[in-house]
Amino acid sequence: MDRIDMVGRAAEISELSQSLAKFVADNNQSEPTFEWGMPDIMRENALGSDLNAIATRTKLMGLLDEFRDLLTEPAVNLSQENRSACLSTYPICRLGFANHVPKEGISVQDLAVKVNLDVSIVRRIMCHATTYHIFFQSELDYFVHTASSRLLVESEGMRNWLMMGVGETLPATHRIPEILQKYGYSEEPEHSSWSVNNSTKLPVFTALNEMPERGIVFFKAMEWHSQLPGFSPQHLIEHFPFQEEKTTTIVDVGGGFGHVAQALAMHDPKVKCVVQDLSESVTGGEQRLPEELKDRVTFQAHDFFQEQPVKGADVYLLRHVLHDWSNKYSRNILRALIPALKSGAKILINDRIIPGFREASYLEERESRDYDLFMFTLTNAQERTLVDWTDLLRDTDPRMKLTRVTRPKKSFLAIMEVTWEE
Ligand SMILES: C[S@@+](CC[C@H](N)C(=O)[O-])C[C@H]1O[C@@H](n2cnc3c(N)ncnc32)[C@H](O)[C@@H]1O
Repeated sequence: MDRIDMVGRAAEISELSQSLAKFVADNNQSEPTFEWGMPDIMRENALGSDLNAIATRTKLMGLLDEFRDLLTEPAVNLSQENRSACLSTYPICRLGFANHVPKEGISVQDLAVKVNLDVSIVRRIMCHATTYHIFFQSELDYFVHTASSRLLVESEGMRNWLMMGVGETLPATHRIPEILQKYGYSEEPEHSSWSVNNSTKLPVFTALNEMPERGIVFFKAMEWHSQLPGFSPQHLIEHFPFQEEKTTTIVDVGGGFGHVAQALAMHDPKVKCVVQDLSESVTGGEQRLPEELKDRVTFQAHDFFQEQPVKGADVYLLRHVLHDWSNKYSRNILRALIPALKSGAKILINDRIIPGFREASYLEERESRDYDLFMFTLTNAQERTLVDWTDLLRDTDPRMKLTRVTRPKKSFLAIMEVTWEE
């Protein structure tokens, strides 16, 4: 097991902090503050980010986090419910506290009037949040915004994401032991913790379609998340197997409203793309399609568990699709492509890869592992390591050869190029 020499660790932290501060100053940006957050240069989710600054920050956070855990009592380390910002952020978000805090701040008494609650409980919730740097108590009983609380005001997507994560998914995670006892390791979406927690036999996406109030929050949260820079189609474009001189025919399977197809077609005027999805998405996508792309991007309602109707395309794209499904269903989605595949056709899987053993810091791995268990909670689905992806392809059909794996640095999703070799 790793041993940490405390003085050595402190020196490493000091050295990295200095180089980060220098980097920020050299680029005429300000150091991070709780009030305004980090300069764009070191933010993953900013267009003006810099890979060196992000790498230094990530390393520094890893060293700090590990040092903090080292100095934490094991009992406290296990009792994460005691360290949970969502105890206060969830009521703050649901009850709209942040919207009532103006730029200059507000007294807790005035805030209590605005949210129509007893001042004592508003104070307790706000004080809890300040211990996570969400709001700042600038003087007794007076609260001002921090970068985090301001985001709750400015971003509807952020609010939806919190409601979806804390309100919808987190309570369902408590059913994981129960479903494992009941079903063992089931690959069926309707046996998931979310379905059991909501007393439904339907999988989450279908069930939420029938509960418009909750569904809209969930689907808007997903849409917002997929628009973060880490999901930008630009990462895919930079590594896409476009054919030089020739038309590249693409089928975007489960392509949603077609924003990726649009980006691919805008990038290369020779691209022709069919976007396939369930009928509601297809209708939405057709309505959003710019006039100038209508001759090269078309939509088709198609259930991806049924045989692929577009035969002989150059590339079949599965972007952020297979992580919604267990291996059993992912194999079925992949096998449904087979009758359409010409020799040498590419299946492009654009999805997350969980870092392999000691391939990344535990903090980086933790992020993927969190998503993995969230996917398990929602649909008994999973995120996958490269070994999992390789096994999935081998078990689907040995003629599906993983010929290239690219992990663009600023992208949340890797690009796995699979070649159909008959
Ligand atoms: C996570 S979204 C990914 C959308 C898009 N590929 C992207 O990267 O933004 C998964 C997509 O799969 C679609 N989907 C779910 N079940 C489907 C099915 N049986 N047949 C076709 N599409 C399906 C959903 O409607 C949704 O658009």
